[in-house]
Amino acid sequence: MRGKDLLSIGDLSFAEVELILDKATQLKKLYKEGVQCEIMRDKTLAMIFHKASTRTRVSFEAGFAQMGGHAIYLDNQSTQMGRGEPIEDTARVLSRYVDLIMIRTFKQEMVEQLAKYSTVPVINGLTDSSHPCQALADIFTAYEKFKNLRQRKFVFIGDGNNVANSLMMVCAKVGMDMVVCCPKGYFPDEKIIAAAQAVAKVVGSKIELESDVNIAAKNADVLYTDVWASMGQEDQAQKRKQDLKNYKIDAQVLELANKDCIVMHCLPAHRGEEISGDVFEGEHSVIFDEAENRLHVQKAVMALLIGDK
Ligand code: CP
Ligand code: NVA
Repeated sequence: MRGKDLLSIGDLSFAEVELILDKATQLKKLYKEGVQCEIMRDKTLAMIFHKASTRTRVSFEAGFAQMGGHAIYLDNQSTQMGRGEPIEDTARVLSRYVDLIMIRTFKQEMVEQLAKYSTVPVINGLTDSSHPCQALADIFTAYEKFKNLRQRKFVFIGDGNNVANSLMMVCAKVGMDMVVCCPKGYFPDEKIIAAAQAVAKVVGSKIELESDVNIAAKNADVLYTDVWASMGQEDQAQKRKQDLKNYKIDAQVLELANKDCIVMHCLPAHRGEEISGDVFEGEHSVIFDEAENRLHVQKAVMALLIGDK
């Protein structure tokens, strides 16, 4: 994977997804054992944020520092990007200074443009249409729990958003069956569904759409939800609250799932909306393991893009 970009899960081959899971397992073990790993010594990571973040910022910054490197946080307010300097120029300038670039922004096209003009690897830290690092951490969390993911049932309930898009593709890549459960008008983009279904077909798994939560949640191994209004959709929050009110994970929905089902949420969560407080805090929840795994998986991705074996 040396020198490549991670712009979406679709960029990764089946073998690369497996490689990331293996590398994350290895780096997590070393970290827990307190073993120093200096892969990024004398290296610098630039992190561009056009949207808010807690997990992504801290896990990338801490993860890069744990590997001996230095990370720089860049936002619009304090850089020339906010005054209109084009991303093409920013890409070429940063490439002269740093070894890796991570970006969280609105349009996927901006991430693609950054990667096109950059000579160092670019990692997508979330756009309006995808969140590949999240999906990799989520699948790593499921992998730790179940080991063999083939034919396990992954159910996403809520808004068919950026996280749902990346989860569809990562489920297809690891051979999990996925049901995306949304009300009409909130399903993911048809092209993204078709792309994930095409990959699923290759491995013999299924990506299905469903509007009935009771049907979707039956025998789930993973129940997943995310906020009803994502960053940038604040003005639609009231309407979304109304339209999505029945698309949540609560005790009743959990009852339909398999006994050893895990409950996931990428965070931040709105208790009492897409997830009830009792399920969020309950024994099936692996939400904070999932948040922790952002650290290990992103360290793995960065190490592989830099060329570490
Ligand atoms: N899940 C996630 O990406 O969280 P942040 O928005 O806090 O980075
Ligand atoms: N769908 C959410 C994910 C946040 C990590 C958003 O884009 O705001």
